[in-house]
Amino acid sequence: MDDFIYRDPGKENGEEAGQALGVDGAVRSRSTGLFCEGVPLSRIAREVGTPVYVYSYNTLTRHFRVFDEAFDGIPHVICFAMKANSNLAVVRSFSALGGGADVVSGGELFRALRAGVMPSKIVYAGVGKTVSEIEAALKAGILMFNIESQEELLAIDGVAGRLGVRAPIALRVNPDVDAKTHPYISTGLKKNKFGISIEQAMDEYERAEALPNVKVVGIHQHIGSQLTEISPFVDSLKKTAELVRKLKSRGLGIKYIDVGGGLGIRYLNEKPPLPSDLARAIRPVLEDLGCTLVFEPGRVLAGNAGCLVTKVLYRKSTQEKNFIIVDAGMNDLVRPTLYQAYHEIKQVITTDAPEFLADVVGPICETGDFLAKDRAMRVPQPGELLAVMSAGAYGFTMSSNYNSRPRAAEVMVEGDRYYIVRRREDYEGLVSGEEIPEFLGEKAAHDAQRARQGTR
Ligand code: LLP
Repeated sequence: MDDFIYRDPGKENGEEAGQALGVDGAVRSRSTGLFCEGVPLSRIAREVGTPVYVYSYNTLTRHFRVFDEAFDGIPHVICFAMKANSNLAVVRSFSALGGGADVVSGGELFRALRAGVMPSKIVYAGVGKTVSEIEAALKAGILMFNIESQEELLAIDGVAGRLGVRAPIALRVNPDVDAKTHPYISTGLKKNKFGISIEQAMDEYERAEALPNVKVVGIHQHIGSQLTEISPFVDSLKKTAELVRKLKSRGLGIKYIDVGGGLGIRYLNEKPPLPSDLARAIRPVLEDLGCTLVFEPGRVLAGNAGCLVTKVLYRKSTQEKNFIIVDAGMNDLVRPTLYQAYHEIKQVITTDAPEFLADVVGPICETGDFLAKDRAMRVPQPGELLAVMSAGAYGFTMSSNYNSRPRAAEVMVEGDRYYIVRRREDYEGLVSGEEIPEFLGEKAAHDAQRARQGTR
């Protein structure tokens, strides 16, 4: 497809072609500027406004296929981690290819079902499932609950009993392995809140097996996110595999091994393993167990399939620093300030302006409101467009209305066409659901009138 050129680091590195998930898969440069597939980002910005998230359908689906093909020959289900990007169109893009969903809330479950994910391909994780969320998942008939604690197990047993069904469950084991990633997104260490320690897991499984309304079907692990090495996956899966053998020898029916997500992507110069590397490394560990593998990739499917397009509002220089003030803030993309995460920032229309070092900051009233710090870039003009790269995962889903900023629009591009897959929020939307209680009524009405008259 001439229109869609995908920079393939696998090929660049002389590795297996077609297996790589590159940093600028979704967006490529033409002499006229950045395009997403066949559509200029400048056109989307002009017609939809900024800030706007733009996703490439063909990159999303390519990433899914690369992941899927890596595990050819092993029974497996790919349950997209919806926390990375829960837009209905994105979720549908994967479910249409046979993908499932990893959900962590009633809201994500609702979205998964609305997007058309088969309930039998939904796994449900998270340390704080509520009774009504458990009920909804049982009624939908999901593949399994990934259980995080003994109390949760008992709660699920109780709800299932009340509904007259048996809840399919896996225990999330915590293998105590260092994922070697940012501490906020490392989950498989003993000190983290996630899962049940591998030492206690056998007892918990036996307790589960004795419960009348749950059915043990699997085991789950997830050790962290943005992993750039293979060894933590292998180390933890070896522990998990050993436990599976013990469980099977005691007659427990482990059908599914849920490997979790976590495969990293290239934001700057990381060299994360490819899905094929992961497959090669874990096949020997898991193959002889005769289980179906469940994967929960999020970032690796969506991260480099999207970018955030923002417009330069103003420039300002202090004695210390240059600032570029753009119309996207930490409420739109919180990763830079929350994790000191690096996102490449590209000019949408290339210029030959001189380079300088600048902080790219948003309009929010917080010092932490930045998208980049001390970044070398060409001095932009007000009105110029910038693309914040690798923003397809944990971008929009982590956005908020802080400073009463309507959340950005989301667009999906397919070939030469684009589709608004979430319209920009408006001011009415911001206050819908809010109410001024009656006891404040008169005063509020009075204040509003005074404000209109400008007599404050
Ligand atoms: N499965 C479970 C149980 C998870 O907790 C997560 C991510 C995933 C799968 C997907 O992981 P992935 O393949 O995307 O690495 N907000 C952070 C990332 C938090 C990840 C939380 N759990 C960020 O922006 O980097």
